[in-house]
Amino acid sequence: MKLLRTVPDLRAALAPRRRAGERIGLVPTMGAFHDGHLALMGRARQTCDVVVVSLFVNPAQFRAGEDLAAYPRDEARDAALAAERGIDVLFAPPLETVYPDGFATTVAVAGLTEPLEGEARGPEHFHGVTTVVCKLFNMVGPDVAFFGQKDGQQAAVVRRMVSDLDIPVEIEIVPTVREPDGLALSSRNAYLEPADRERAIALHRALDAAEVAVARGERSPGAVHDAAVGALAPFDVELEYLALVRPDTLAPVDAVEGDVLVAVAARVGPTRLIDNTLIHTNGRPR
Ligand code: PAJ
Repeated sequence: MKLLRTVPDLRAALAPRRRAGERIGLVPTMGAFHDGHLALMGRARQTCDVVVVSLFVNPAQFRAGEDLAAYPRDEARDAALAAERGIDVLFAPPLETVYPDGFATTVAVAGLTEPLEGEARGPEHFHGVTTVVCKLFNMVGPDVAFFGQKDGQQAAVVRRMVSDLDIPVEIEIVPTVREPDGLALSSRNAYLEPADRERAIALHRALDAAEVAVARGERSPGAVHDAAVGALAPFDVELEYLALVRPDTLAPVDAVEGDVLVAVAARVGPTRLIDNTLIHTNGRPR
C-alpha cells in the first residue's frame, strides 16, 4: 500500500491504472477505522481494480464547539488496517493541501441539507462535507465512491451533488455495520462511558420498534413515530429528532408507503449519536 500526501503524487500513482482502463474506487473517511469503514473498503476491494482510501479529518464540517480537537486520530493504526484490507493507496493529505491559503470556494447543496442533521448541526456541516467530497472526487477521479447508509442524509446529499454537478462518479451505499447488540458502529462510540454505552442501544431499539410497527401493518407516520419514541423512552437519552422521511428528498412522509427512511439522533450523556433504518413497504395498508 502507498501512503500518499500530495495531489501530484496521487495523480501520478493513478494515471497508469486509469490509462489501463482499470476501475478506481474511492472510500472517503475521517479515519479512526472501525468495522463500518472496513466494510466500505471490503466492498471497494471486491468491485474495483484500484482502491483509494482517503483519510482527512475535515475541519469545514465541524462547528465551533463540536468535537474537532477531540476527534480520534491514529494514522499508523489506520494505515495498518487499510494495508491488511489490500488497499492500494491511503491518501492522507495535510490541512494545507486541502485548504491552502486563500481557499474561497464552498459546494453547497440546498434543501436536503436543512432538515434533520442540518437542523441540529447547521447546513454548514453538509456544505463542509460536499466541499471536501467534491475536492476528493476531483483529486482522485474515481469511477465509484463508497459511502455508508449509517449517514443516510450525507448519502442523499452527496448523490444530489453528483447529479447536480454532473460529476462522473457512481455512488454506492453500503449497509450499516452494527455491534452484536445493534449499536451502529461509529468513531464517536469511543467517547461512550460504560453506562452510556448500555443506554446507547436506545437508538437501535427505537428503529426496531418502528420496523415492528410497520411489519404489523401500521401505516400512519405519527403512530410509527410514537412507537419508536416509546421504545426509546426507558433509556433516558435526550432525543433530538426521530423522523420518517423519503430517503432521497428527506421530505416527511404522509403515509408509510414505498421507501421510508426512519432517522434518529439523540444525546447519550455528552455524546451525540445518529442512526437510521430503511423501510420498504408495498404500500398496501392493513
Ligand atoms: P467518517 O465518519 O469517517 O465515515 C466514513 C464513511 O464510513 C462514511 O461514508 C460513513 O457513512 C461510513 N460509516 C460510518 N459508520 C458506518 C457503519 N457503522 N456502517 C457502515 N458505514 C459506516 O462520513 C465521513 O467520515 C465524512 O463526512 C466524509 C464523507 C469522509 C467527508 O469528510
